[in-house]
Amino acid sequence: MTYICIDQNIPPVMKLIDGKAVAEEIKSLTKIELYDFTKSNNRTPTLAAILVGDNPASKAYVNNKVRTCKEIGFNSLLVKLPADISEEDLLAEVEKLNNNDDVDGFIVQLPLPKHIDEIKVTLAIDHKKDVDGFHPINFGRMAQGLPCYLPATPYGITMLLERYNIETAGKHVVVVGRSNIVGTPISILLSRKTKLGDATVTLAHSRTKNLSDITLQADILIAAIGIPGFITEDMVKEDAVVIDVGINRVENPDNPETNKLVGDVDFENVKGKCSYITPVPGGVGPMTVMGLIMNTLKAAKKEIYPS
Ligand code: GUN
Repeated sequence: MTYICIDQNIPPVMKLIDGKAVAEEIKSLTKIELYDFTKSNNRTPTLAAILVGDNPASKAYVNNKVRTCKEIGFNSLLVKLPADISEEDLLAEVEKLNNNDDVDGFIVQLPLPKHIDEIKVTLAIDHKKDVDGFHPINFGRMAQGLPCYLPATPYGITMLLERYNIETAGKHVVVVGRSNIVGTPISILLSRKTKLGDATVTLAHSRTKNLSDITLQADILIAAIGIPGFITEDMVKEDAVVIDVGINRVENPDNPETNKLVGDVDFENVKGKCSYITPVPGGVGPMTVMGLIMNTLKAAKKEIYPS
């Protein structure tokens, strides 16, 4: 008799979640929607962005948003302001965009210089044009499951999970990092009673004790803490889905050409352990931009706020 030996210790096959490819698919679909919109309305959707100062990361993000708008065929308007602009003058610029009928949606790139109150600026944005989904009206509506602009990064993450048929219902999701932009909203979204929710969510942060004990329970682990390589192999359960939101610039002062972007996950060592993982770059990042673009199209169509 011949026996076939099945090795039970074969590691799971890791699948890369290709955010760049999914973003390209969505771009193609958006171009079709845009064509229909432009034909019926005789105008092109416009996204505006306010960039204060010259933080290199913010500049790169905003340029990427403007470039993607152009590529798809949206209009974009970039308002560059000096780092020493007063809060009052910045609020006046926000008000101009609120009242500009050609602008469907706009963002104020964060972080802002220390002398400016980010909350005051966020509150000044007309919630109907708040395509970042940061205004408390949109954030509150998201928390209650009402129509709203979803914050772009959480929106992008949910699109990735959906595209890869990654079930969230009944799963334990551990989010590491509680920012208003990513950690807090994604934890709310995934815990809601919806198709892309119904998960049991733990929101861990800098004061969490015994963090590895918690991350090791995660079926889906979302790292959004902003520390390069923070999530190590020993913190990840075998076969988990790992979503890396971090975009950290690691600079080499001796040779700037070798500067690179790394995530919050120690990718090389974690990848062999999980079932799915997002790379950095090319994972969540391109999807964040698409989240923003899709919100802008919704704004132009007045889908969320009809009047
Ligand atoms: N800074 C980091 N991420 C974001 C974002 O999604 N929107 C804005 N406005 N600023 C950011």
